[in-house]
Amino acid sequence: MSVDPFGKGGLHEAEVVLKAHGVDAFFREAAERTGDSHVVIDGRKVLMAGSHDYLGLSTHPHVVEAAVRAVRRWGTTVSGSRPLSGSLVLHRELEDRLAAFLGQEAATLTNSGFQANLALSSLMGRHDVVFADARNHASLVDAARLGWGRVHRYKNLDQLGKQLADAPSGTGRLILTDGVFSMDGDAADLRGLRALADHHGAKLVVDAAHDMGVLGARGRGLVEHCGLDDRVDLISVTLSKSLASIGAALAGPAAHVNYLRTNARPILYSVAVPPASAAAALAALDVVETEPERRRHVLDLAEGLHNGLRRMGLDTRPSTTPVVPVRFADMATAGAFWAALFEAGVFTNLVGPPASGTAMLRLTLTANHDETHLATVLEACDRAARQLGVPRVPDIPEVALTRSEVA
Ligand SMILES: Cc1ncc(COP(=O)(O)O)c(C=O)c1O
Repeated sequence: MSVDPFGKGGLHEAEVVLKAHGVDAFFREAAERTGDSHVVIDGRKVLMAGSHDYLGLSTHPHVVEAAVRAVRRWGTTVSGSRPLSGSLVLHRELEDRLAAFLGQEAATLTNSGFQANLALSSLMGRHDVVFADARNHASLVDAARLGWGRVHRYKNLDQLGKQLADAPSGTGRLILTDGVFSMDGDAADLRGLRALADHHGAKLVVDAAHDMGVLGARGRGLVEHCGLDDRVDLISVTLSKSLASIGAALAGPAAHVNYLRTNARPILYSVAVPPASAAAALAALDVVETEPERRRHVLDLAEGLHNGLRRMGLDTRPSTTPVVPVRFADMATAGAFWAALFEAGVFTNLVGPPASGTAMLRLTLTANHDETHLATVLEACDRAARQLGVPRVPDIPEVALTRSEVA
């Protein structure tokens, strides 16, 4: 009997379960923007509490103008890869600017964060060993699968320590971790990872997708927050979240970046970042540097969201960042909660296995939201929880957010 290659589950399976309960949560299309905090879906204006445009820059006039000017000047695409016909001075400018911003020697662009992480597979030779956090983003998981090296997944630093100690001598060792975990919203123990890496002669690669722009005194991310700006071997930064664009960069010591630039297939064999996206990211960096209060505001709202939910018995642990997860017993309950929020005019992200271990909603407020929006989201959550009889968890401690003094 043959198996249908197109019938293997994934998001489709969740979609079928949810649709049986009358919930239509995925691929919902916004017809227009109605301002920075809301979108219009099915003719209704809903508060967007699921965007990763953390600093709210995708509609910032400086960023929008820069993108428009770039299209006029450079056209819509470069139709070539970086080593061949697709390099613009704009790309070099963005690479230099990102490297300087991140406090690194060099940076090289890729056309998405997913591709940046896949590029890491070029570091994994046959005799190398990769140590990957079990909660890493799918793109880091796929990078490890794509590389030649042996892969160990670790759940905590103790386990990682043992795996490193058991690795055969004479092998290359690479530790891969999200900075802030994209589903759970907690921050990796970078200092602990650095210490283990140093002890066992391993290189440390950090994906700063959810922390660059938000954490650190200057917005460099968790690496800066932990005082490790000059102690990581590579940082992977997407432009698609705090920098309100699309594309990504790998930044670090010049030799590391140059290796990737000349070996990584997603860089060598894929068309470079479009001009508008490069220009938008450059302009977004201007705003990150000149409007640090945006970082503070996002963290204040996140703190209000966490603690409001926790006070009503909806558990957002282990998150300590603006990625705010709320878990449910099963996908049907999470779906019903999502639908109740949508009905109340609040859009959130519904996720379940395999993206996250369990069914959950993931909420995020951006710098374009305010206290009134926060109150609307909390009220909608309380009402939904009462309507659905969601069990409450008593006495959840207030969140101690991962946050640095803004420079
Ligand atoms: C931790 C992490 N890394 C990488 C990515 C992929 O980035 P991009 O959307 O730029 O492909 C994401 C999500 O978008 C992410 O959450």
